[in-house]
Amino acid sequence: MCGIVGYTGAQQAAPILLEGLRRLEYRGYDSAGVAVHGGGGIEMVKASGTVERLAEKIDGGAAMHGVCGIAHTRWATHGAPTDTNAHPHLSEHGTFAVVHNGIIENYAALRAELTAAGCVFRSETDTEVVAHLLERSYDGDFLRTVMRTAARLEGSYVLGVLCADEPGRLVCVKEAGPLILGLGIGENYFASDVTALVGRTKNVIYLDDGEFASLTPESVTVYDRTGREVTKTVSRVVWDLEAAEKGGYEHFMLKEIMEQPRAVKSTIAPRLRSGRVELDIGWSAADMASFRRIVLTGCGSAYHAAVAGKYVIESLCRVPVETELASELRYRDPIIGPDTLLIAVSQSGETADTIAAMRECASRGAKVLAIVNVVGSTIARLADEVIYTHAGPEIAVATTKGYTTQLAALYLFAVWAAEGLGRIEKTRYNELVAALSALPARMQRAIDLNTHVRYLAGRWHGQGAMFFIGRGMDYAAAMEGSLKLKEISYIHSEAYAAGELKHGTIALIDEKRLVVALCCQTALFGKMMSNVEEVKARGARVLAVAPEGDRRIFADADDVLFAPKGEELFVAAPELVPLQLFAYYVALENGCDIDKPRNLAKSVTVE
Ligand code: F6R
Repeated sequence: MCGIVGYTGAQQAAPILLEGLRRLEYRGYDSAGVAVHGGGGIEMVKASGTVERLAEKIDGGAAMHGVCGIAHTRWATHGAPTDTNAHPHLSEHGTFAVVHNGIIENYAALRAELTAAGCVFRSETDTEVVAHLLERSYDGDFLRTVMRTAARLEGSYVLGVLCADEPGRLVCVKEAGPLILGLGIGENYFASDVTALVGRTKNVIYLDDGEFASLTPESVTVYDRTGREVTKTVSRVVWDLEAAEKGGYEHFMLKEIMEQPRAVKSTIAPRLRSGRVELDIGWSAADMASFRRIVLTGCGSAYHAAVAGKYVIESLCRVPVETELASELRYRDPIIGPDTLLIAVSQSGETADTIAAMRECASRGAKVLAIVNVVGSTIARLADEVIYTHAGPEIAVATTKGYTTQLAALYLFAVWAAEGLGRIEKTRYNELVAALSALPARMQRAIDLNTHVRYLAGRWHGQGAMFFIGRGMDYAAAMEGSLKLKEISYIHSEAYAAGELKHGTIALIDEKRLVVALCCQTALFGKMMSNVEEVKARGARVLAVAPEGDRRIFADADDVLFAPKGEELFVAAPELVPLQLFAYYVALENGCDIDKPRNLAKSVTVE
């Protein structure tokens, strides 16, 4: 949510900052701005709308002169997405420019205090208080002034600051949001995400909460809250710039859908060794016996992965598993103790609610396992143990490979734990290991089978609303299929456990309605057919998702998408592929901005 980037070096900063913003635009895209330190002080340009609008305004950066600067792409929290509310924000006399990601929770009190002291505000943002506080407490020491100011702030704030008195120097601070330092030769950077940096350097430092950094072209120094210098490890980013580019596809989302076979393989292959699942985590699978129950948490699609994971883990491990939305879990008084294993699922590793739920459960003694894509992210670092999904950078706001690799990691965990707990026969274990190894090819088959999705999207894109129904793991996949459709096409859609529809919602079914029925589990096929009959009897049209080659489905469905057959416990991943494609092509038909749907941002770092 909001992307920030900073550069100090020998080159003109503005074009470099714009390039960084373009790569961070998935984090927020309602307005953008740049401030650079030219010879005569801080120069700033802002624009509502996309980074491209900003780029036009400053002639691709050529219109701004200075070798040190900060930039921001915004997802509005306080104040509408106008030029004035866009970041950076300047202090009254222009001594400081600030970019911010997060929410300053005590901003109203600080604003009242500053206003009473005669300060005139230009914007409606929470961020502007920071610029004024900096200037009013400035004593000539840039870093200490930022530290003093940060100590007055409550909430989440990742700040990048430029000071008119110190050309060539940047100060940044991280509190509850992502911030990465990039180390170059004669130039250094900060950014919300490595995607902004990887075209320029692969050597990065992941900052921890409460850390400050001072950057000049020649040096990067990190400090803790007390001002003590901290020695940080320099990490090397393993993927290349191409991974963060469209590679010939029209949209990142389509590219990422197509990448799923490879991404799922990256999750699974390194963990299958000599016919066994090996998870390099600090507990033995036998340690699992100390957990009397497992709680899975996450937000949005990650939560949907958790729901599918619950079915698989419970079925194989015979341990009670609950799922709970992180945004609910964090504010309950949950009954959680040392006998609970919390599994936190997150693509970005920065989702504020998931982080808070982890902290809440850990404070009650739970052990935390994180399933995360982004290496070095906050969730990965907070957890006791991590299974990285290794999906590669996911740029489209709507997750696809992020979600299916989370499923793959949950499947690995379930098989590993079931064996450690002694709850699985050797033959079944071997079958499941083979099914895991076959999953990437099954994902590819799911893509290959559904070449007609585009045609179907043409047929159904005009729907005012849709329902997705399924049972068990099909229900979990229905939740995700429905979310995909609504978030990128803006068509209202709801997912229902198929048996639940008749308890009220069936009142909405009529001859105008399309019902997407997921029927991929043999044991539940007959039950699903009864539910399909129920909606057809009320005039609905049915688009079914069924196992490849199952002719029975044609008796009832108007149209069919096929999911390749294979281990049914793992069906949620391949059956989601046609639904991702369906959502994508419906959105394309409807002329939507697929990679950047309205009102959304990729990484939800505020609650
Ligand atoms: C939907 C989507 C979101 C995320 C959710 C959690 O396509 O991407 O629902 O799944 O915001 O994000 P992470 O997984 O980064 O914690």
